[in-house]
Amino acid sequence: MNTPLTPHAFRSAAWLALALVLAPAHAGDTTAALQMQRWSDASGQPVNAERGRLLFVNRQGGEWSCASCHGNPPTAPARHASTGKAIAPLAPAFNPERFTNTAKVDKWFKRNCNDVLSRECTATEKADLLAWLLQLDARTPTRPVQSKP
Ligand code: HEC
Repeated sequence: MNTPLTPHAFRSAAWLALALVLAPAHAGDTTAALQMQRWSDASGQPVNAERGRLLFVNRQGGEWSCASCHGNPPTAPARHASTGKAIAPLAPAFNPERFTNTAKVDKWFKRNCNDVLSRECTATEKADLLAWLLQLDARTPTRPVQSKP
């Protein structure tokens, strides 16, 4: 029994197919580039990737840097500094899930900045960090992550 599709049913089916094709593979509401834009809009300053790199790789007075758990550069799987749990790469080019969920980004920025700087990161700092992370791509020479003695 081949019932021909009415024009309306056909249009609905076409829209559904299109929506499925366009839907991102992950349940995300944002992107890393949009997150950088969001924080640089909030700070009103141009971003500075080098400042972001220095913030990420250096300790800020506490026991840990961002790199202690995320690696340097954060382009490969790393290990949590205290629990040893595996952490997937943080650089978006190496892990497309990163920075695609606003609530997750906000939750971890807050928690991790508190661990490293004993305060929340400013909008300028978050924009700088994202500018650096977005620069890391397959062309970035990656040094092997040094394991601690
Ligand atoms: C003590 C370990 C630790 C330190 C130090 C740390 N992080 Fe994390 N970070 C984690 C863990 C655990 C997660 C959540 C698990 C995951 O997403 O892999 C996470 C997740 C994140 C996320 C969520 C990204 C996303 O959208 O998936 C961001 C952003 C982040 N960290 C930034 C930072 C920054 C910036 C610093 C330095 C200020 C830092 N982290 C320091 C352990 C750490």
